Amino acid sequence: MSSAPIPAHVAIIMDGNGRWAKQRGLPRIEGHRRGVETVRTVIKAGRELGIRYITLYAFSVENWKRPQDEVGALMGLLEYFLKRELANLVKDKVRLLTIGRIHEMPDNVRILLQNAVEATAAFSDLTLVLALNYGSRTEIVDAARAYAKAVAAGEVKLNDTSWESFSRHLYTAHIPDPDLVIRTSGEMRISNFLLMQAAYAEFVFTPVFWPDFTKTDLADAVATFAKRERRFGQTSDQLKSAPTR
Ligand code: FPP
Repeated sequence: MSSAPIPAHVAIIMDGNGRWAKQRGLPRIEGHRRGVETVRTVIKAGRELGIRYITLYAFSVENWKRPQDEVGALMGLLEYFLKRELANLVKDKVRLLTIGRIHEMPDNVRILLQNAVEATAAFSDLTLVLALNYGSRTEIVDAARAYAKAVAAGEVKLNDTSWESFSRHLYTAHIPDPDLVIRTSGEMRISNFLLMQAAYAEFVFTPVFWPDFTKTDLADAVATFAKRERRFGQTSDQLKSAPTR
């Protein structure tokens, strides 16, 4: 058995659905539809590889600016995914969580999400985190507001300047930071995704479009991660003797 480190938390920017469809002369939504199949593949592969958390950037705060029919189709696919996959999530003991301004999502999607989160709350083997109506900048604004409220209520001291104290107000308060961030489709940007949480993450960029992303691609990214030396701001020698993280 290999002793290579498995990233506990893999966060993925699922990109390239539109280009995948365009290459085939298909409408963009067909790329998103195939992208949902990849989501299923990746959940299964993640479980098999022993990954504990998978976060998927499914809809950003900026994605509302896309053509209305594409936004509608993406919401429809989310609805379809939640209806079809809930039984499988329960069967496979996958816990579902969300991050983002979920209260601004359409009512039908919001209710399905809430049901799925409640129905899977007891599971802990694999946690699937869907980033929806998510953006790191809005997350910081929301966290700062919550923090100010906590200070005003006397729950937090104003002279408490620790990251630990502030980060409890992020959407990801109960989710460990990602160890590995993968972006598909050859783009090399972070696009307002987990900016704070990915502070010490390793990044893997692959040219593969999301609909074509396979279990092997995920395993390859995990293998690349295993070869990286993570130092968290320390020297290699320090880490060898007494890692402080
Ligand atoms: C990026 O491709 C993809 C998205 C903005 C949406 C991702 C959504 C899904 C895979 C489906 C719904 C998700 C779940 C969890 C059920 P793009 O359209 O930006 O591709 P392009 O850059 O090639 O145009």
